[in-house]
Amino acid sequence: MSLDLTIRDLVVKTREGRSLLTVERLDIPAGSRIGIRGPSGAGKSTLLFAVAGLLKPASGTVAWGKHLVSDMGAAERARFRRENVGLVFQDFLLFEELSSLGNAAIAARYAKRSSRRRIVESARAGLARLGLDTLGGRRVDSFSGGERQRVAVARALANDPAIILADEPTASLDRASADLLIDDLAALSSETGRTLIAVSHDAALHARMDLVIDVVDGRPLV
Ligand SMILES: Nc1ncnc2c1ncn2[C@@H]1O[C@H](COP(=O)(O)OP(=O)(O)OP(=O)(O)O)[C@@H](O)[C@H]1O
Ligand SMILES: [Mg+2]
Repeated sequence: MSLDLTIRDLVVKTREGRSLLTVERLDIPAGSRIGIRGPSGAGKSTLLFAVAGLLKPASGTVAWGKHLVSDMGAAERARFRRENVGLVFQDFLLFEELSSLGNAAIAARYAKRSSRRRIVESARAGLARLGLDTLGGRRVDSFSGGERQRVAVARALANDPAIILADEPTASLDRASADLLIDDLAALSSETGRTLIAVSHDAALHARMDLVIDVVDGRPLV
């Protein structure tokens, strides 16, 4: 099923009731590669959290195809994410004591028994594709920043998600590692028709996107 993103009259507020993000209308066809940029504190991560189903908006709708994420409770949103979304976040959130495969295949621990083998195989293939298959069983706390970031990408892809959401995926990398990761993300999206939405300050990343959206003062300029 095709997961077009449709946002209408979305408002995200703090607990105290202050508005963090307002999106009157945003339509992103399935398979698009979208860059998000803007000043610090503008609301970019908040937008990514809202489309990921990581928060409950104060009002308005966020829908991926028929999935009305903004109406879902926390448990339903968690299930939607497990089945459809690969998240690549700034500070990785890797499990330090596990190997690259242990991390990339972490979804297998929470999946139905019948799909575990598929997730592990897909994680293994993802690591190989990202050039990490030579690192063997080493704990990821011994990996470089670039290696860790690629483990995070392999993990996000292991469950074959239709949607990849990345928050500053190249922030802690040197230019060469960042360029490799951008190539990987762009290719992974274009080959498979996955939707990619990436928040970044990196002009090289935005150059590879179909559309770049500026977020200023809690509003995307579209
Ligand atoms: N749960 C929250 N409660 C209160 N304020 C919040 C909350 N989450 C975010 N904010 C505030 O909302 C604003 C937007 O935050 P957000 O993290 O979306 O910014 P950003 O555009 O991703 O910035 P950066 O480029 O620095 O990562 C910031 O001022 C932030 O402090
Ligand atoms: Mg942010």
